[in-house]
Amino acid sequence: MSTPALQSRLPQVGTTVFSTMSALAVQHGAVNLGQGFPDFGCDPRLVDAVGAAMRAGHNQYPLMTGVPALREAIAAKIARLYGRAYDAATEITVTAGATQALTTAILCCIHPGDEAIVIEPAYDSYAPAVALAGGVVVPLEMEVGEDGYSLPWQKLAAAVTPRTRLIVINSPHNPTGSILRRADLEQLAQIVEGTDILILSDEVYEHMVYDGERHVSVASLPALAERAFVVSSFGKTYHVTGWKVGYVAAPAALMAEFRKVHQYNVFTVNTPMQHGLAAYMADPQPYLGLPDFYQRKRDLFREGLAGTRLRLLPADGTYFQCVDYRAVSSMPEAQFAQWLTSELKVAAIPVSAFYSSGKESGVVRFCFAKEDATLRVALERLAKI
Ligand SMILES: Cc1ncc(COP(=O)(O)O)c(C=O)c1O
Repeated sequence: MSTPALQSRLPQVGTTVFSTMSALAVQHGAVNLGQGFPDFGCDPRLVDAVGAAMRAGHNQYPLMTGVPALREAIAAKIARLYGRAYDAATEITVTAGATQALTTAILCCIHPGDEAIVIEPAYDSYAPAVALAGGVVVPLEMEVGEDGYSLPWQKLAAAVTPRTRLIVINSPHNPTGSILRRADLEQLAQIVEGTDILILSDEVYEHMVYDGERHVSVASLPALAERAFVVSSFGKTYHVTGWKVGYVAAPAALMAEFRKVHQYNVFTVNTPMQHGLAAYMADPQPYLGLPDFYQRKRDLFREGLAGTRLRLLPADGTYFQCVDYRAVSSMPEAQFAQWLTSELKVAAIPVSAFYSSGKESGVVRFCFAKEDATLRVALERLAKI
């Protein structure tokens, strides 16, 4: 007897660059500035709140849509920060991390043959989800110049066809650290006006925008919000990436479809975490203070690299810093990232991994969501470059 052959639904997918680089980092004893997660703990008050929820007996299935107190806290936060009043009962759903929200939204928007425009470099989960839905990914590359990465809106408008069903955007943006400003979103609103194109807005880094700028959520533009799924992640905001709790906000008609898919895919997200997060959200300070917290780390990291031959690209948001290394080496990005890991003992991620074409721009990404001491060790090593 042999195992029947399976025809892959995702034949292109192999081991991700994140796993490869993390394994290489361990092998070489490198400081891992590759994968995007903090190396510090979360607020003990949050752990206490989850413990209290468990002890209070919140350990059975919650409502399919999420614990009401958490949905209400999310709706209140969005209304306060972005000015749109989502109905907690019909327009907010708690998800198993942002990744599930993104995949579920894509599955309920895309039918076989539909096109989804994905802006590249792109977070790696969008394209496989579109493929699983039987859709076609239409990649659109950001432009990269002296001032960093930007979105070519005219090219985006030109990429729209009668089959376009979805545009996936991400701000603050992984991996580039760029952000979309109001004028950008107004351009997007013009492009989709009068069409039936939906928007999937990945805003997991919404609370990491620096230099006094404010995150502009798709939720804050009615012309976009009425056709959008807006996704966020508690993992990023509260330093608990392993908890995998996120949420999605969308108008009731879109959310009704989202919940049909969610119901048979995930059904519910773990109960005590939701109660704990709901209690913790009563204090807005942890997320309102996040820009200062991460900006200090960004500045520490940038100042440390300023004297090297690595060219710092702007880092307006997220906890990523991209550098152009072409003054140092002509190696392709993956090879350069491996060299950094094995020789200088600092792991980074090649930005080419975020392009379907594997496009090379001489740029690697570092994650600065690390203890200051970790960043200092990395900087000492990178100073040799
Ligand atoms: C742009 C982006 N979206 C979504 C996610 C996934 O978030 P979660 O861990 O909540 O699934 C990440 C995590 O790295 C990300 O960078």
